[in-house]
Amino acid sequence: MILGPLHEIADPGGKGYTLPDRRQVFVIRRGDVVYGYFNACPHQGVPLDWKPDVFLSVDKSVIQCATHFARFRIEDGHCLAGPCVGRALIPLPVAVEDGHVVARPAPDAG
Ligand code: FES
Repeated sequence: MILGPLHEIADPGGKGYTLPDRRQVFVIRRGDVVYGYFNACPHQGVPLDWKPDVFLSVDKSVIQCATHFARFRIEDGHCLAGPCVGRALIPLPVAVEDGHVVARPAPDAG
């Protein structure tokens, strides 16, 4: 399914989306490469962004939870530091097709 146009995501940056079943997901962009995850921190299950579409640390090097500041590797969602170190975000397979970010296959995790 199409999540939205790639150009709507800051580079580098992130953007949140709501799936048809209402689950929250987000996509991180680096150039033409995208990484997708469900928007739930492994620590307490809350959304990672305290402001819409703000998922990265100030230096944009890692994904950062706004609640207790867990830090996650962009490439695989592995928690590098914080209260859930060693755990990981649930991945959402995404790709860029014809200038749009698409999620595939239909996600059933989370
Ligand atoms: S809820 Fe994310 S670090 Fe605590």
